[in-house]
Amino acid sequence: MPTVKVLENIYWVGVVDWNKRHFHGYAYSTQRGTSYNAYLIVDNKVALVDTVEHPFAEEMIERIKEVIDPSKIDYIIANHVEADHSGSIKEILNLAPNATLVGTANCKAGLEKHYFGYWKFQTVKTGDTLSLGERTLTFLEAPMLHWPDSMFTYIEKDALLLSNDGFGQHLASSKRFDDEINQEILMWEAGKYYANILWLYSSLVLRKLAEVQKLGLKIDMIAPSHGVIWRKAPMKIVEAYLKWANGEADKKALIVYDTMWASTERMAKAMLEGITSEGIEAKLYRLPVSDEGDIIGELLETKGLLLGSATINNGVLPTVAPFLREIEGLRPKNKLAAAFGSYGWGGGATAAIEKSLKSAGMELVAPAITVKWVPDNAELQKCHEYGREFAKKIKAAE
Ligand code: FEO
Repeated sequence: MPTVKVLENIYWVGVVDWNKRHFHGYAYSTQRGTSYNAYLIVDNKVALVDTVEHPFAEEMIERIKEVIDPSKIDYIIANHVEADHSGSIKEILNLAPNATLVGTANCKAGLEKHYFGYWKFQTVKTGDTLSLGERTLTFLEAPMLHWPDSMFTYIEKDALLLSNDGFGQHLASSKRFDDEINQEILMWEAGKYYANILWLYSSLVLRKLAEVQKLGLKIDMIAPSHGVIWRKAPMKIVEAYLKWANGEADKKALIVYDTMWASTERMAKAMLEGITSEGIEAKLYRLPVSDEGDIIGELLETKGLLLGSATINNGVLPTVAPFLREIEGLRPKNKLAAAFGSYGWGGGATAAIEKSLKSAGMELVAPAITVKWVPDNAELQKCHEYGREFAKKIKAAE
């Protein structure tokens, strides 16, 4: 794949990682791969904005060489310390030893603790600028979006926001721009990315978007460091972030569960029928058959969650526990929820689920429904009714 001209004298020199299937260790599935986007700005001075994950350093350097001799790089803008963006800094500095790194104070500390390289570093904060000649870079700190060091870089001349992880998607493609690919896939991957990486920081997202608006930055293009560049509809992703960060969701439901001898599953299916009989769309996912990252992605725009497990050792099945941890960590806003499950003698699974749902900040709309051993017809009818009542709560919700 060649170097891509993004705008006059601004080039994409990143790499596409077609085979990336997991991110953050194994926490987040990336079935469509990803890209690490680095951008080369050629002016009187030359700046490289971000680098790529280490195994791909040579590929990035070859792309840079298509435009300039890498020794001519004057600045390496490090918008973020995480290794998928900083992993090739050492290799660039080998070729451009006089280049100055530019980033936040947290970035400097983070890079030193990652690479033990005490490089020439220019620390910047919000509003600081760096002139390259015709273009001036303006920096905007974005702490906890999603690391303490995170930063955006803005170029007024091009109305271009280089947003690093913000507005990204884990999406490998031979295309580089939003208008070149399937919109449904693009928005699904952008949403899944938001849910799995940024959801917890939604209040900071809202604050940052308000800050950008107050600064009056004109934005014609958003170039994130993963996935495609928003050149046709940058406001489409900004509006989606506003929606997600505000916890706006569709009036539909997810039923997420695991089962031991099919009793909990029968309950789940009876509830599904109850929900849909009220005209509310519902989907059913069994853990761990279904992918947890995808379920989290689905939950982003879904109002209601019914979460179930059979009881084992007075608690949830081990396959359900990671999902509980995940929602407690992400703290999805404005969700309605309830627990269900079967048990043999003492029970315990639904109490553990309710504790997690509360800890995740969800609103419990009904006491948990439980069934001893195998549900009979009357109990399945109760599950059906439980689903209907849950659907009514969703319909009545703001
Ligand atoms: Fe937070 Fe794409 O790294």
